[in-house]
Parts: sequence; C-alpha cells; structure tokens
Amino acid sequence: KDLSGRTAFITGGASGIGFGIAEALLARGVKVMIADLRDDHLAEARERLGHHPDVLTLAVDVIDRDAMHDAAQRMLDLFGGCDILVNNAGVGANPSVDAVTYADWEWVLSVNLWGPINGVMEFLPLMLRRGEGHIVTTSSMAGLLPTADNYIYAASKYAVRGMSDSLRLSLAPRGIGVSVLYPGLTRSRILESEENRHPRFRTGAGSTPPSGGPVAPPKDSGMDPRDVGEAVVEGIIHNRGYIISHSEFHDELSEHFESILAASPAPQEIDPGRLMLENARRA
Ligand code: NAI
Repeated sequence: KDLSGRTAFITGGASGIGFGIAEALLARGVKVMIADLRDDHLAEARERLGHHPDVLTLAVDVIDRDAMHDAAQRMLDLFGGCDILVNNAGVGANPSVDAVTYADWEWVLSVNLWGPINGVMEFLPLMLRRGEGHIVTTSSMAGLLPTADNYIYAASKYAVRGMSDSLRLSLAPRGIGVSVLYPGLTRSRILESEENRHPRFRTGAGSTPPSGGPVAPPKDSGMDPRDVGEAVVEGIIHNRGYIISHSEFHDELSEHFESILAASPAPQEIDPGRLMLENARRA
C-alpha cells in the first residue's frame, strides 16, 4: 500500500514515539498534523523537522473534547479528511498502593484512555463517511504483560487494546484498519509526564517517581523512536492488529499467554450419542 499523499493526525506527536511515527510517515510522503499539549514540544518538533512543508502543528489537549472536535474539523478543512489517526499521547504515573489517589487514576485514564476515545469519536465519523482510514493507538508492553505497581497505567493500556481489538472487527467490513502499538523501552520524555498533569488532577496526587519497567525508561536508554515509527508504518501498510516493535519480550509473552491457556478448561470430548439424546429432550 502506498501511503504517499495520505494525511495523518498524531496526538502527542511532538516528542518521543509520536515524533518517531511522524518522521516515519513523512518519509513515506504522508502529510502530517502533529498535535500536542505542549507548545514548547511543538516548537522543537517543527525545528527538528526543518520546518518541513508537509507538517502542520496544533496545540491540543486530548482530554478536551471540543478541541479534538475542532482538530478533526481542521483536518477536514485543510486536507479533506484524515486517512490515519494515531492516538499516541500518553502519560505514566505509578503511585504506590499506599499513596494512590483518585486524582492519579483520573489523570492517567483521562489522557491514556479518554484521549483515544475522543480521537475515535471525533475522527472515525470522517473515515466512515469516506469508507476508508486507519486508526493506530499506542498501548505498551504494559498493556500485554503484568508488572507490579503499574496498575493505573496498565488499566489504561489494556483498555485501549480491548477497544481496538473490538473496533478492528467492527470496522474491517467498513474499509477501516485498526492497529495497536505495543512498545517496550523507547527513548522519550515519558519520565517527565508529571509536568503534563493538568492542575485539576493535582489535588491529593499520590504519584511517586516511576520505578522502572516498560513504562519508565531512563531518558537515554531504549529503542530509537524512529525505529518504533518504522514498525508502525509497516503495521499500517499491512493492517496488522498488533504492532510489536521490541523483540525482547517474546518469551515473557509466550509464558503469559500460556498461563492464560492453562487456566482454560480443556475442551471436553462430546459423546455423539449423549448429544442426540439431549437435543431430543430439548425439542
Ligand atoms: P513523551 O512524553 O516523549 O511524548 C508524549 C507526548 O504527549 C509529549 O509531547 C506530551 O507533551 C504529549 N502529551 C501529554 N499529555 C497530553 C495531552 N493531555 N494531550 C496532548 N498531548 C499530550 O512520551 P512517549 O514515551 O513518547 O509516549 C508516547 C506513548 O508511548 C504514550 O502513550 C506512552 O504511554 C507510550 N509508551 C511509551 C514507552 C516508552 O518506553 N517510552 C513504552 C510503551 C508505551
């Protein structure tokens, strides 16, 4: 599939993984709207892309439904629609079970779950009207594998997986592809997430500094976001439901899903004679 001339809207596109996705799409000739909460990140992104003619930037908080509605309208006005929606903006907080507050839950779920919901609600109608499009949502290895002290983030990342797996089935007959990205450690600013916490989610916040694991990469370690971006482009081209950029979780994934299978009762041999008898009784 040739992506050249297509259009994409990427939330949290001014930094880290979102920026890597923007770079990879631009390299395929896609026109990109980078949306981000932070004006400073947006300015830096424009600079890093050498003020690329195919890039527009927009200050948007994914929690803000009106702003997301206006952003979709902007895509319609400027590009006649949106071919690729990338729900990528996300934040990490992993407070201890002793310190957690409602504010922590509300903040992380607002950005990481309601952000993608708002994206789907505002951009999917444009795609349905045209009978084509692709939605990518950034989950995490933490949306596939359990890690301790990561329950809020995991709730949000498992949730977008469930949403997307179902939408994928609903939207396939309508010509719309759905993918989820599950990155492991990637170089980004996710450790600075607290800076992006809206004041209304600060009261009583019990967030403690992240303590490691897939959601808390040291700033200078992890995969180059551009490589994650390339995996996403491949995933869109081949309409893959699951985009897994990192290879090092293969064994853990296998173990985890084996443990789920092991909990499932083995299928019972059904005696054809008994089945006939039961059916006859029911009739
Ligand atoms: P990042 O912090 O470098 O980039 C996230 C961008 O989203 C930032 O530019 C930030 O300003 C923006 N943002 C934050 N809140 C926002 C809001 N309410 N509305 C709009 N924009 C907002 O972090 P990173 O790591 O690139 O994160 C991107 C996604 O990747 C997130 O969903 C994260 O959970 C996920 N992820 C990251 C991993 C990593 O190792 N870096 C691993 C697995 C998943």
